[in-house]
Amino acid sequence: MAARGSILAPLLRLASRDGRLAASARPSVAVSVAPGSRRRLHAVPPRRDKPGKYARTDSDVEIEHPQEDDLPSSQPVRGLPGQYVKPTLASFSLDGNVGLVTGGARGLGLVIGQGMVYSGADLALVDMNKEEAEKQCQQLVDAFVKENPGSKRIPKVTAHYADVSDQASVERCIAEVIDQHGKIDNLVTSAGFTENFEAINYPIDRVRKLWGVNVDGTYLFATAVARHLMERKTGGSIVMIGSMSGSIVNVPQPQAPYNASKAAVRHLAASLAVEWADAGIRVNCISPGYMLTALTRKILDENADLKQKWTSLIPQGKMGMPEDLMGPVTFLLSDASRYVTGADIRVDGGYTVT
Ligand SMILES: NC(=O)c1ccc[n+]([C@@H]2O[C@H](COP(=O)([O-])OP(=O)(O)OC[C@H]3O[C@@H](n4cnc5c(N)ncnc54)[C@H](O)[C@@H]3O)[C@@H](O)[C@H]2O)c1
Repeated sequence: MAARGSILAPLLRLASRDGRLAASARPSVAVSVAPGSRRRLHAVPPRRDKPGKYARTDSDVEIEHPQEDDLPSSQPVRGLPGQYVKPTLASFSLDGNVGLVTGGARGLGLVIGQGMVYSGADLALVDMNKEEAEKQCQQLVDAFVKENPGSKRIPKVTAHYADVSDQASVERCIAEVIDQHGKIDNLVTSAGFTENFEAINYPIDRVRKLWGVNVDGTYLFATAVARHLMERKTGGSIVMIGSMSGSIVNVPQPQAPYNASKAAVRHLAASLAVEWADAGIRVNCISPGYMLTALTRKILDENADLKQKWTSLIPQGKMGMPEDLMGPVTFLLSDASRYVTGADIRVDGGYTVT
């Protein structure tokens, strides 16, 4: 008997993209195709919703990145007692390393930096808002001492100003960090932002500013740290914070320039990984999905139905927490990943695989 293939699977995949399969849209008959026979497409039931409705951007969703004064502060993660003194594989340790995190005063960068400190590194928090970074340095050290009472080591955590999109500012910052810490071994580029405008109405000066921070800023810090590592004739590890938006198109909020910037970050990581492999410098990308930071919380408080739409598309059914990035970033910075370079690790609750 000839083999028969079902065409039900693609239909189910399409319908589940919005997280719901309406009973009326559920096909009652499994349609089969025998090789050589015509597809019986009349068996596909009519859809009630406008086709593609949940897979489109919506120009009514317009969110401008807030002014500095409106940006909320983040809090260090609590409740990780004894983490530093608990045993784990030695290759995961960052003991003796100096790490630098851009955009480290808030959100994902701050919590990633905390993970590095709890894994043994000293840390330079770099941000355009130096005052906020200074406040967080003290909070990070206080939290470490409180939660690791058995530890003899007190991490050195410093705050530094840089506008990542400005080369002179980046070089001044790197020199200051080396002056205070003696070296840099690891870099995490987390400075970046998003905003939502439909492309035809997105002012070009804002687009250029976004690309300047997200793309130029990543490039400038990566190349400056790589030069430092090459001068020291030592290897190192760089993690670029991209986004799942570098691989998929988010809906319903329109954000074409942001998506393009994150695709650039992902491929920059792969390209530099190849260029610097023989210098022992590994470069990888982490692509987070929707994460609950102080800023996304504020945006969702003001746009309640967005959260429901976003979570309906996430297989794990919830947004990620900033601390979900601590492990993946520490893994990529440590010797545990010494044969991993040019990779993109998606930390997105499964969003991009559906
Ligand atoms: N939050 C999410 O859901 C999410 C998801 C995927 C990717 N990301 C990416 O993660 C990174 C961090 O995002 P976040 O949510 O923590 O944002 P955030 O706004 O909470 O923190 C970003 C930090 O970067 C700093 N910054 C901005 N422009 C800068 C510049 N020119 N120079 C130096 N510092 C600058 C800000 O002052 C801020 O402290 C971004 O690249 C973002 O695109 C975030």
